[in-house]
Amino acid sequence: MPLKSSGDIVLARQKVRQWSVELRFSLVDQTKLVTAASELARNALDYGQGGEMTIETLNSGARTGLRLTFEDHGPGIPDIEQAMRDGFTSGSGMGLGLGGSKRLVNEFHIESEVGKGTRITVARWK
Ligand SMILES: Nc1ncnc2c1ncn2[C@@H]1O[C@H](COP(=O)(O)OP(=O)(O)OP(=O)(O)O)[C@@H](O)[C@H]1O
Ligand SMILES: [Mg+2]
Repeated sequence: MPLKSSGDIVLARQKVRQWSVELRFSLVDQTKLVTAASELARNALDYGQGGEMTIETLNSGARTGLRLTFEDHGPGIPDIEQAMRDGFTSGSGMGLGLGGSKRLVNEFHIESEVGKGTRITVARWK
């Protein structure tokens, strides 16, 4: 899904909610996934000049999960450790989006290259 406007973020949130419901995640887990998606989509828009979100379902044995990938071709993150720290912002935010998202999911991967862009993949298992 494109992440080029605030309207796209609303649509992305709705899609994540819909898939979470279809996979029968608990209401609490649905909200965790939607909240993480919202933060990462907002970052892609605010700092990454827009990007894309991809949703995938995961199956591992009897386990079901949802994986979300956020990719942009913006300026990248020069210091990932610093960006992940609660309270760090290069803008006017609270600096809680990345750390908060990480705490809401079971898997969190971030890759970023200055001048190339950023890709963040998160997953939550039922
Ligand atoms: N996709 C991205 N591309 C480039 N820089 C990013 C990206 N996502 C995050 N950052 C950098 O990491 C910092 C921390 O992000 P985080 O989401 O934790 O906080 P914030 O967006 O500044 O504030 P908040 O999310 O609490 O409103 C950002 O201020 C920005 O400098
Ligand atoms: Mg943020």
